[in-house]
Amino acid sequence: MPLIDRKFSILIAAAFAALLTVSGCTGEKKEASPEKTVAAPAVQAGSGDPASGKEIYFRYCHFCHGQKGMGDGPVGIALSPHPADFVNDEKRMSKTDAELFKSITEGIHKEVGGESMSMPRWQEILSEKERWDVLAFIRQLEREGKTAPK
Ligand code: HEC
Repeated sequence: MPLIDRKFSILIAAAFAALLTVSGCTGEKKEASPEKTVAAPAVQAGSGDPASGKEIYFRYCHFCHGQKGMGDGPVGIALSPHPADFVNDEKRMSKTDAELFKSITEGIHKEVGGESMSMPRWQEILSEKERWDVLAFIRQLEREGKTAPK
């Protein structure tokens, strides 16, 4: 596979993010309000609903993280660094739910050749409950991937 230029992957990521903003309006419509931290009722950590998380995952995350969470979605393979592999990256997945939740909420930004990119932040797009739900689904993918026959 040809090595894809970093700038190009950044472009793809940006285009993808724009696409999300446009297409993410099905169902519950939310205005992005970066300034406002909505004081929603605190959601109990670990109370995520994987069934609802699955819908969110296949709307927003699988392009990068892949159908089974192995970081091999069609956009993900073009990204550097690659999206997290929830099944095989044990070191990463040994983080606590609170840490992973924080990453989903705030994104992960790395300086890559002067550009900051990586995992998008979802705070303005997904509610707190939706973020816990999608994390619960990711934990499910992690378990399923480990027990699946190779
Ligand atoms: C544009 C591609 C892209 C999309 C879309 C995306 N991610 Fe990621 N994600 C990444 C990349 C890249 C990383 C690895 C970042 C790093 O560690 O350098 C990552 C890492 C993660 C991690 C690991 C965080 C950590 O602390 O190690 C979690 C959890 C995660 N993503 C969840 C999600 C969820 C949930 C969604 C959908 C709501 C999502 N991602 C959508 C690219 C993406």
